[in-house]
Amino acid sequence: MKLGVIGLGFVGLSLASVLGSKGYKVSGFDSDKSKLNAIKNGIPPFYEPELEYTLKAALRKGFDTTHDLAKIINNCELIFITVGTPQQDDGSIDLSMIKSVASQSGSLLRDTKNKPIIIVKSTVVPGTTQNILLPILEKRSRKSANKDFAVVTNPEFLRESMAIADTKNPHVVVLGGTEGKFMDTVKRFYQKLHKNTPIIVTNSQTAEIIKYANNSFLATKISFINQISNMCQSIPGANVEDVAKTIGLDPRIGPLFLNAGPGYGGSCLPKDVKAMINFSNKIGIKPVLLDAVETVNRYQLENLLSTIKKATGKLKGKKITILGTAFKPDTDDIRDSVSIKLIEILLKHQATISVHDPKAIENTRSIFEDRVEYFDSINDALRGSECAVIMTSWKDYTRINNEHIKQMKRKVIVDTRRMLKKSKINARYFPIGIGLSGSF
Ligand code: UGA
Repeated sequence: MKLGVIGLGFVGLSLASVLGSKGYKVSGFDSDKSKLNAIKNGIPPFYEPELEYTLKAALRKGFDTTHDLAKIINNCELIFITVGTPQQDDGSIDLSMIKSVASQSGSLLRDTKNKPIIIVKSTVVPGTTQNILLPILEKRSRKSANKDFAVVTNPEFLRESMAIADTKNPHVVVLGGTEGKFMDTVKRFYQKLHKNTPIIVTNSQTAEIIKYANNSFLATKISFINQISNMCQSIPGANVEDVAKTIGLDPRIGPLFLNAGPGYGGSCLPKDVKAMINFSNKIGIKPVLLDAVETVNRYQLENLLSTIKKATGKLKGKKITILGTAFKPDTDDIRDSVSIKLIEILLKHQATISVHDPKAIENTRSIFEDRVEYFDSINDALRGSECAVIMTSWKDYTRINNEHIKQMKRKVIVDTRRMLKKSKINARYFPIGIGLSGSF
């Protein structure tokens, strides 16, 4: 069985690499030639644990990349679409890339004897497959879905920083579309690939909303605990971690996604909650809860800023060190990272910023250029600093000790992830979510 992957970003490249490394015949398409060249040489265009190793294994087993979409449409039995669906200024989803892929694929389908199954992995709002992608494919190809080709919606749940592990062992496979021989082929493919993973078969619009419901619920859990965290911070002695640990023991709640912090970021949760709000309004359902989830997330940054101000006094001219710009550890991704937003605000207040991140420095530099100073070592980043703000829970930061802190001009630490709460540090310490008596 020959497999095609259209769009080699986080999802597409992880999928192609895992399938290729398992010995499947995989062809990957991307419109970006320099990205394709790097991938061909075993160099992932972004940092993701285990990806380089898996990609190289796939290349050794014959994973090939192409800039020619026809090769994929003419030869592959299963074709995964994994292009981005970013957000527009009003929060709605930008379908231009996936529409363009559908349109080009449809034109190519017209002249081929191949009857591929097109599997939509990109996140799309409910109705997109049925009302937009299928009609484009049928119109361009002048062929009929479920006869000459098929489309199956198959949302992806992998997490950045765990992309390879999640691709190998997903917690669920969701397949949306029409039951029949094409759907059976996809089901068999996944049953063989993931022997112990539940497979949910439903229609495409349900599959599409499952993805949004999943991410929106995760965002809701985070905003909930952040709200509790803010309350704890204002109650002397109260500790959000004990709250999270305890309510997490209730099986109806569960322990995950209850880490209070500076708010959720990244390329998915903020975008998907906004798209869900936008979509909900469009279909006449007031998204009261999701509006609140977003509002709490926005306030989280304001709350953090006021904690920093309380800890340091006036920001103008102060040297502030930001520890971590990646939106979470084990990635170099800074898209929609709260840390980046914080730096922008601190710069507006005319603070002087030094930055440390184990992986994301180059991406951070592409945004701020010479407006901030970049450091490879935590010591250097802290030298002369008047306040350090721990933003990303990189393991390195748990090792911060008095040797590092003595580099600082004023020993003040704001810790959005409570990483130093058990360390005996010689500093004024402001952990988010822990109410310190007399600190404020
Ligand atoms: C998220 C989902 O977790 C994946 O299941 C989904 O497939 C993916 O979006 C997607 O739609 O592509 P990801 O964006 O990689 O994955 O990152 P998460 O691990 O979900 O973290 C998102 C943000 O929430 C980060 O800023 C993180 O720091 C924050 N977070 C997470 C918290 O503040 N507290 C928590 O307890 C968990």
